[in-house]
This record gives sequence, C-alpha cells and structure tokens, in this order.
Amino acid sequence: MKIQVIKGMRDILPPETAAWEAVENKARQIFKTYGFEEIRTPIVEEAGLFERSVGATSAIVEKEMYAFKDRKGLPLALRPEGTAPVVRAYVEAGFYAKDPVAKLYYFGPMFRYESPQKGRSRQFFQIGAELIGSDSPMADAEVLILLDHLFSELGLKDRRLEINSLGCVTCRPAYLTAIKKFLKGRINKFCPDCKRRSGKNPLRILDCKKEGCRGLSREAPLVHDFLCEACAQHYREVRGLLLAGHISFKENPRIVRGLDYYCRTAFEVISEGLGAQDAVAAGGRYDGLVKDLGGPDMAGVGFAIGVERLMLLLDRGPWTVDRGPGTTVFFALLGNEAQQKSLAAIQELRTKGNYVECGYGGSLKSQLRRADKLAAKFVVIIGENEIKKDMAIIKEMASGKQEEVLLGRLVEKLA
Ligand code: HAM
Repeated sequence: MKIQVIKGMRDILPPETAAWEAVENKARQIFKTYGFEEIRTPIVEEAGLFERSVGATSAIVEKEMYAFKDRKGLPLALRPEGTAPVVRAYVEAGFYAKDPVAKLYYFGPMFRYESPQKGRSRQFFQIGAELIGSDSPMADAEVLILLDHLFSELGLKDRRLEINSLGCVTCRPAYLTAIKKFLKGRINKFCPDCKRRSGKNPLRILDCKKEGCRGLSREAPLVHDFLCEACAQHYREVRGLLLAGHISFKENPRIVRGLDYYCRTAFEVISEGLGAQDAVAAGGRYDGLVKDLGGPDMAGVGFAIGVERLMLLLDRGPWTVDRGPGTTVFFALLGNEAQQKSLAAIQELRTKGNYVECGYGGSLKSQLRRADKLAAKFVVIIGENEIKKDMAIIKEMASGKQEEVLLGRLVEKLA
C-alpha cells in the first residue's frame, strides 16, 4: 500500500525550496540589522504551556491542538504557535538576568488541526519575532517597522496593516462587563461555540467567523471605547511612531485575535490575495505572559508571518536555483578509472566554491544531455583514450570549443 503525506500537510519540494531559502535568507539579513538573534525551541511542548498562554478556551487549544500523551502519560502538544515556547525558553534560560531586552526570531513548523483549504493547513511554517523586556510604544513600532521592511524587500505589494488596542488588565474588566450586558438576552442567537465560550471569554464573539454571529456582533461594544488613559496614550504613541516611520496602517476596532495572551496593541497584515479574512502575518503585545509563565513582570511584543501564505502571494514560480557565484562544471566520466582519477579534482573545485556535478555512468551522450539540462558552463570529458594519455577534455558549452589538458592541470585550467 502506498503511504501518502498526512491530510493538511505537504512536502515542500525542490525547486520551490530554493524560494523558501531565499525568503529565509532575506529575513535573517533584516533581523540582524534590527538586532534580533535566532532561537530554536522544540516542536513538542507540555500541553499546559499553551493552555496557560494561548488559553484553554481558545479555538486553537480547544479544537485545533495536536495533543497527546507520551509513553509515561505526560500530556504533550505539537506547538500550535511560537510565542509561548519562546517565552518559556526565555524564562527557563533566565535571559532577563543578562540583558533587560531580548530580541529573538524563529523559523519553523506549527501545527493546528484545522479544515485544510487555500492558505490554511495543519502543518504550516512561521517566521516570527519577539521583542521581550520593553513596554515602550517604540518596541511596538519597531516590530511593525521590521515587518513592513521585510515585506517591502520581498516585494509583497498587496498588503494592509490593520491595528487595534485591546486594553489591559485595568480597563478590560469594564469592557467585559459591557459586552456581557450586550450578550444578555441575545446569546441564544449566537452559534453553539460562541454560546459556550461567552461565559469565560465573551470577547471571542467578535472573532467568530460565522456569518450569523458576525452580523449579530456588529452592534456589540468595542474595547476601543473602554481604554484606560495609559492604554489610550500607548495606542496614540504607537500610531504616532508609525506615522513618523511612514508605515501606512488602518485602525480596525474589531481585531480581537484568537489567542488569550494579548493586551494593548494587536495587529494583522491582510492581503486580498488570500480572501477576505486571512492574514499573512499577525501579532501584538503580551505584557502579562512572561509573568504568567513563571518569569518576572516583563512586557513583550512580536509577530508571526505565515510562510505558505506569503509564498502564495509572492508567487515567484518558476523557481530557479541560485548556485552561487562559482562556475558550474560537469564531469562526464566513462568507466571506473575515469571516476577514480577525477575525484581529487572534483573535490578541489567544490572546496573552491564551484558547483560541480558528475555523471554516474551511462553513455557519453546521456551524460552530456544532463550537463546541458544543468546549464553547465564547462564539461570535462574523461574516457578510455584520455585515461591512457593522463589527459582530460574540457569543453566550453557556449562556444563548443574544446581543448585537451593534463589531468594534473585540470583545476588550474578551470579556475
Ligand atoms: P496567529 O495569528 O495565530 O498568531 O498566526 C500568525 C500567522 O500564521 C497568521 O497570520 C497566518 O499567516 C499563519 N497561520 C496561522 N494558522 C495557519 C494555518 N492553519 N495555515 C497556514 N497559515 C497559518 C500567532 O501564532 C502568534 N504567535 C503571533 C505572535 C507572535 N504574536 C506575538 N508574537
């Protein structure tokens, strides 16, 4: 029986992988100019990490998390997102003792058991960044400027940054009371999920994607109107800094985000290319999270880009492989002796940074066909005649010119 890839997951194959590599390289380069360093955390974490951070009643944890027990019965989960693991690692390693501000970035797969469709899969990759240790609006602005910088460099044209403020522990209770009051008497009209969640997290009704609920929640009070003075000031400063940095944005008071750890700034980067509601990147501020996960009271802000969605939007195909600045040389080798005699030269050329391929047997004609396909600049031909004379033929593919050289001088000639 043929075994196939799991539903909602896919293989990323060459040459598309070359495009992924190019995007990752660009991201690394930009992260460095903003002082971000890479962090790699495990794909598997204790399930409790996400229950405490993303939220036990969030759709991600409740319905979408790949949760299982290991052989000793420990509840584990495939990470559905990257922020909680980064904060866990930050606390565990005691980063805050070394430097008050930590700037960390990550690449990697995340897992959510969602209904697969365009731009929505069960394994997807994120490029994320977390700035931990500052509650300054400058930190919010910096991660948003970084995100905009990266998207501009990648040539992502069709995009719109939408921002909101979700308030904080001081002002959110009054808002929750208002929204509970709004729901009283109306809650039976909402979907069963909204009904169930309305007790613990009524904010979620603004986030429900079902058409009926969206219509009903249109009249609901917005958190925006309940911000305390400190949150309102923070939000004003973030907007001012974005304007000063020439970052265009739209305020969207309906952004609530599906993860519980957010406070104050929340944002999404929307692209019409993904359909009405889908974000290519999203993030926000999570000031209580470090403390909730056992660390000191440190603020944080960050984002994550959905790489599959980004690739759909960039649509750079047909992908081409960048072989670097060296020369492409193909060795057409006829027989075992030719293979043995050429190995040292092949190794030396590769050590010098050239892209070197060789034939693995077969006729000269079939090997030359492959050299052509690989766009080799030079082909080195070594057959029985050449072996006898300790020579090799170098053929320049563009001109068709060929010359015979001593095997010992091959590398020097090609270099
Ligand atoms: P999120 O909004 O859940 O936030 O995910 C961020 C991005 O990941 C989304 O905007 C989307 O591009 C991509 N994404 C999410 N789910 C899927 C899926 N099923 N298939 C394909 N792409 C998907 C977070 O994960 C937060 N940790 C972001 C953050 C970082 N907040 C602060 N720091």
